[in-house]
Amino acid sequence: MQPKSEWWHSAVIYQVYVRSFADSDGDGEGDLTGVRRRLPELAALGVDAVWLTPFYVSPLADGGYDVADYRDVDPRFGTLADFDSLIASAHDLGLRVIIDVVPNHTSSAHRWFRAAVESEPGNPERARYIFRPGKGPGGDEPPNNWQSIFGGPAWTRLKRPDGTPEEWYLHLFDAEQPDLDWSNPEVHEEFEDVLRFWLDRGVDGFRVDVAHGLVKDPALPDIAPGQRADLLDGSTRLPYFDQDGVHDIYRRWNAIAASYPGDRALVAEAWVEDAQRVARYLRPGELHQAFNFEYLVAPWDAAALRGVIDRSLAANGDVGATTTWVLSNHDVPRHVTRFGDGGTGLRRARAAALLTLALPGSAYLYQGEELGLPEVTDLPEEALQDPTWERSGRTRRGRDGCRVPLPWEGEEPPFGFGPADAEPWLPVPEEWRSLTRAAQRADPDSTLSLYTAALRLRRGLHNTAPSSLTWLEAPSDVLIFGRGAGFVCAVNLSEQAVEIPLHGEVLLSSEPRSGDRAPLSLPPDTAVWLRV
Ligand code: NOJ
Repeated sequence: MQPKSEWWHSAVIYQVYVRSFADSDGDGEGDLTGVRRRLPELAALGVDAVWLTPFYVSPLADGGYDVADYRDVDPRFGTLADFDSLIASAHDLGLRVIIDVVPNHTSSAHRWFRAAVESEPGNPERARYIFRPGKGPGGDEPPNNWQSIFGGPAWTRLKRPDGTPEEWYLHLFDAEQPDLDWSNPEVHEEFEDVLRFWLDRGVDGFRVDVAHGLVKDPALPDIAPGQRADLLDGSTRLPYFDQDGVHDIYRRWNAIAASYPGDRALVAEAWVEDAQRVARYLRPGELHQAFNFEYLVAPWDAAALRGVIDRSLAANGDVGATTTWVLSNHDVPRHVTRFGDGGTGLRRARAAALLTLALPGSAYLYQGEELGLPEVTDLPEEALQDPTWERSGRTRRGRDGCRVPLPWEGEEPPFGFGPADAEPWLPVPEEWRSLTRAAQRADPDSTLSLYTAALRLRRGLHNTAPSSLTWLEAPSDVLIFGRGAGFVCAVNLSEQAVEIPLHGEVLLSSEPRSGDRAPLSLPPDTAVWLRV
């Protein structure tokens, strides 16, 4: 196997959800200039790269994952010049920048979809999307029984201006997100050109949205009654996910990325069946990394986590790819809240951070996890913007609770997210006063201080440690592993304090410690890094 020299193999990549990161112009929404101004704080945190969620021209029917122009910045997020300044500032600070590419669907406001709607069935303008006649009398029923991931049918019927119904189009997500037809060479050419557009501007890579969804079974077969894919659910084989044809696309994209100087990373968002199916996206000549969602959804349980860790490392190792670790993103409830109520969730999240950052490979952090932010579960209904809310008939609240704007400093909402008099697009809880970055910077026991210390130590560790781990003997519900050069990570996932059979220096602990006498005692839901 080649030595792994590309930057992403051990990188910590920080996800910036642009709309909620920092608002420079007071319109209530984050923007690229806001990101640029705050980059020094991410450099100080100690991450290696940032991933920016979509900032392209978009009606924001799905938070920008509904792109109307892939080669321009939405005015609410800034301009191309702002983007260029952001890249330049990031590179000056030694931070790489990855951006999203959204190839499964466009916005219905995209010029291609508008042309498709204005043209007639059978015309080439329609052939960029998946239009089909309906079934049943008058074509009144959708072409098949696929369901939108956000709820309701995955097909919407077009109507002529006079109201006459005609063909249906497929949208695996919102009706404003028509799926492209990747059997059409024009679609390939377009996206290859989009990649080059941003690579020419200096991006260090792409996060490929719904990487497993681009190719559909051409027969568009019905799925079993009751079967339906959740965004987070790769557990079922479906005729619109993980089809073999997607891999041809990524072989071409790999060649494009490789034709640019420096190492440009391609990262898959692929919710597929298991670690082995994920690793197929990472075979030599395809994508470079994939989010480890099996790790993200694992419960706070030693055996479950150890199983995921072993399966991930084995499957990725088989194809020579690096493994990634991720606990949260903009699509899932924040892990502080997932892991438990009240203080328990935060305690576990802090321990999980030390576990995650000690594992071999690359880690993705979601903005705000370094502050220990919880999910906001009580957003008023009128504030909810995720299409899931309406499409599910107001039964699923959706993902806004993890997208609440970040608290930076000060005593009153919006805590420096934007100007004091600018109302943020989602309300920021008063209780986040003690969670601002400024407040936590001043506190050596804060979650921010823990992450900062962990990232500093991790740099040294990953420069010397092997890309594997060794499990060490441990009491039940405890994970202990070594990474060479005397580095050991121990995590107590049980409800009791345990003594661990190791002597050594505690480098870092997820909870404040007083005295470190041997044998080492680990309180419940606590992790330590040791030099033994
Ligand atoms: C995955 C993105 O992370 C999510 O936010 C989006 O809704 C879907 N893809 C559709 O683009």
